[in-house]
Amino acid sequence: MEILRTVNELRQWSRRARNITRNTVGLVPTMGALHAGHGSLIRAASASCSHVAVSIFVNPTQFGPKEDYARYPRTFDADCALAESEGASVVFAPSVEEIYPAGAATFIDVEGLSDRLDGQSRPGHFRGVATVVSKLLIAAEPDCAFFGQKDAAQVAVLRRMVTDLRLAAEIVVCPIVRESDGLALSSRNTYLSPAEHTQALALSRCIRNAESLVASGQRRDRMLIETARQILSAEPDIRTDYIELVDWGTLEPVEFAVPGSLFAVAAWVGDTRLIDNTVFS
Ligand code: PAJ
Repeated sequence: MEILRTVNELRQWSRRARNITRNTVGLVPTMGALHAGHGSLIRAASASCSHVAVSIFVNPTQFGPKEDYARYPRTFDADCALAESEGASVVFAPSVEEIYPAGAATFIDVEGLSDRLDGQSRPGHFRGVATVVSKLLIAAEPDCAFFGQKDAAQVAVLRRMVTDLRLAAEIVVCPIVRESDGLALSSRNTYLSPAEHTQALALSRCIRNAESLVASGQRRDRMLIETARQILSAEPDIRTDYIELVDWGTLEPVEFAVPGSLFAVAAWVGDTRLIDNTVFS
């Protein structure tokens, strides 16, 4: 598996790959520290595209000044091994200067959506995400780009961006991969102590609980949110960031869970911020 370092190398690789008759290119953007959740995206990309690029780039512009950019786990060799075993054709691992050349002054702001959910407690986060993903889509020119439902608000922001910029890539969303105990896989789970891991299970309990309430016909926002709040507040080291029932497209609150509604939670477990969600059908 080849490792590409520059935008030009990625662009040339993609154009060569697509020139072979009817071949398709898939892109899986990541920040590395790959786990089985990322693996599922790469597998889905390999299943539907003939060539797959996995980008590994810890994007500084999506981290706030007090966030974990410096200590974000970096496990490049293991990441390459996992990417290759799931079918990646190349890994794109640029330097910060390659993505943000000296004096870089161009950013993508998806207005409104970027201030909702995670955007509310992480100002500037989605501006950084939209900027880096637009650069990756422009460079790789993929037919399909793969993202996890785990970051559901990110998906909403990126769908809006792709529509607004009339980018050619189709956004493919893959289901949340969980540990056997229910915790949604995240590169940040490595920060959790065993005791924090146990408390963190409250997030997936909130999600399962909301799913059973809705399955039993209780679709009211207040009921879903209040029950989740009680589950999270029972844990001594959990601080709730948000619990919201919204429309997945607009991220605006809705009163009743209907097909396409997103129920999402975010909380700090000790110093680690975790998220989880479900989309009702
Ligand atoms: P990262 O957190 O590395 O995640 C890369 C992709 O993997 C995202 O689309 C995310 O939703 C997906 N993913 C993470 N955990 C998952 C899980 N448990 N199940 C399924 N998919 C999961 O998200 C980012 O990086 C960045 O914001 C990025 C889009 C790369 C831009 O920098």
